[in-house]
Amino acid sequence: MRPYIICHMITSIDGRLHPSRFTEAAAGVSADALSSHYEEVAGRFEAEGWIVGRKTMSELATGAKRVITNAPSVAREPHVVDRNGRNLAIAIDPSGRIHYGQDHIGGDHIIAVLSEQVSDAYLAELREDGVSYIFAGPTGDDLPGAMAQLASIFGIRRLLLEGGGTINGAFLRHRLIDEFSTLIQPAVDGVAGSPSIVDYNGVDGAHPGAGQALRLIGFEALKGGTVWLRHAVEEAPGPRP
Ligand SMILES: NC(=O)c1ccc[n+]([C@@H]2O[C@H](COP(=O)([O-])OP(=O)(O)OC[C@H]3O[C@@H](n4cnc5c(N)ncnc54)[C@H](OP(=O)(O)O)[C@@H]3O)[C@@H](O)[C@H]2O)c1
Repeated sequence: MRPYIICHMITSIDGRLHPSRFTEAAAGVSADALSSHYEEVAGRFEAEGWIVGRKTMSELATGAKRVITNAPSVAREPHVVDRNGRNLAIAIDPSGRIHYGQDHIGGDHIIAVLSEQVSDAYLAELREDGVSYIFAGPTGDDLPGAMAQLASIFGIRRLLLEGGGTINGAFLRHRLIDEFSTLIQPAVDGVAGSPSIVDYNGVDGAHPGAGQALRLIGFEALKGGTVWLRHAVEEAPGPRP
């Protein structure tokens, strides 16, 4: 068992990732209204938390690296802190590069998903900060195993996957996305090669969505011209690749 995972993203009409690169709002359209849709729609899902890749979480975490000497050698086992009913902010950070300095992001309790290769000093830093952590196998790429632990250890049933494109691509490749929630802003990026909202870059990257099919399950026009699309991810008909 693992949580139900909804990949919730905002994008331009050409599927790009970085809102800072999008064209401006048209005359008479409120840029604030456009940017408010993301959190408002996220709230409608009543998820118990959100997952992001290491780069996205690095933009949100405010801690600084600390030198912790004489950290005890500890087993690579889950470290579970009482979240006191808070939602969860989950970072996929195999190398242990993010420094939090506290146990929450915007009030949501942090869980770091790590590889077993991170140092004892880094684990000590997380424990000092009050951050929970689990391990995604020896190299940190066992995302299905990590998601199963979120269900079995933390009892989580529904999560939002909130990017960036790299981690979304990895989740797609592992068949860990149950639904896409896509906000298409009336804007364009337009540059060839600009990162997109699903950007798998593994060695077998030709078809990360192989064997999966999308079914439209909802659409809504929002204030200012953003279009919200919902797609369920299903097993594709035909033989499994
Ligand atoms: N448009 C939106 O709705 C939206 C939403 C969220 C974020 N963003 C933007 O997206 C940008 C970051 O996106 P991004 O795609 O560059 O990075 P990302 O997905 O946030 O993070 C990628 C990192 O995740 C780690 N990772 C862990 N397991 C992995 C796996 N199995 N496969 C691949 N990577 C794995 C790697 O960290 P290591 O390098 O440490 O190994 C990798 O570099 C930010 O600028 C953010 O503002 C946009």
